[in-house]
Amino acid sequence: MRKKIVAGNWKMNCDLGEMQELLTGIKNQLKNIPDTVSLMVAPAYTNLYAAFETLKETPVEVVAQNMHQEKNGAFTGEISAAMLKGIGVQTVILGHSERRSIFNENNQLLKEKVQTALDNNMQVIFCIGEELESREENKQFNVVKQQLEEALFTLPEKAWQNIILAYEPVWAIGTGKTASPEQAQEMHAFIREQIAEKYNSEIADAVSILYGGSVKPANAKEIFSQTDVDGGLVGGAALKADSFVEIALAFQN
Ligand code: PGA
Repeated sequence: MRKKIVAGNWKMNCDLGEMQELLTGIKNQLKNIPDTVSLMVAPAYTNLYAAFETLKETPVEVVAQNMHQEKNGAFTGEISAAMLKGIGVQTVILGHSERRSIFNENNQLLKEKVQTALDNNMQVIFCIGEELESREENKQFNVVKQQLEEALFTLPEKAWQNIILAYEPVWAIGTGKTASPEQAQEMHAFIREQIAEKYNSEIADAVSILYGGSVKPANAKEIFSQTDVDGGLVGGAALKADSFVEIALAFQN
């Protein structure tokens, strides 16, 4: 059975004190969350180690929001896979639409980053999704297909054990607009179909595909109830312990 995952992407929010407060709030409510749901949080780089230490005895996984593709060297301001692994981080988010649009990361670069993460035995949460213009022109499937093909479809079959996908329509991120549960299901099923065609149905069925884009307690249950939706990558609503936990509980009800 596929893993159910709720991951909080905190982006460039929370200083150390704010993060510890948020983590305390989450920890206090962990007993309510069923074992079948994996929780992940993605703090800023400066808070990763503290988060790891605070969450050590809990099932909550600390993941990174990004990393550089090179092993080491003269890349001022960047962080390597080995540095993440060195503090216990096993998973990295790659290809978030903000990295693509603000920091000009394209599928070619992301393919390199994915390879580096996998070479370091890390797990990747890989984000894909179309911008509003593409959705309005009904080109969302082409865009997502191209992202998959260019960044991931040269991977060997066994690499897929370490890939989690996050479908995040860019027009729904931080905008309050959510894809309807039907739109999410339609795209998630399409993604699974592409993987089945390129690889096989066993791999396609085993990949967790999260939905991201204005997930909140009020809509999580409906979105997560879709057959091909295996959880959420949550931004804004993950910045409050109560709403993050409530989203995780949406699987239960
Ligand atoms: P949002 O962000 O939940 O604030 O829309 C989601 C994301 O960017 O991962």
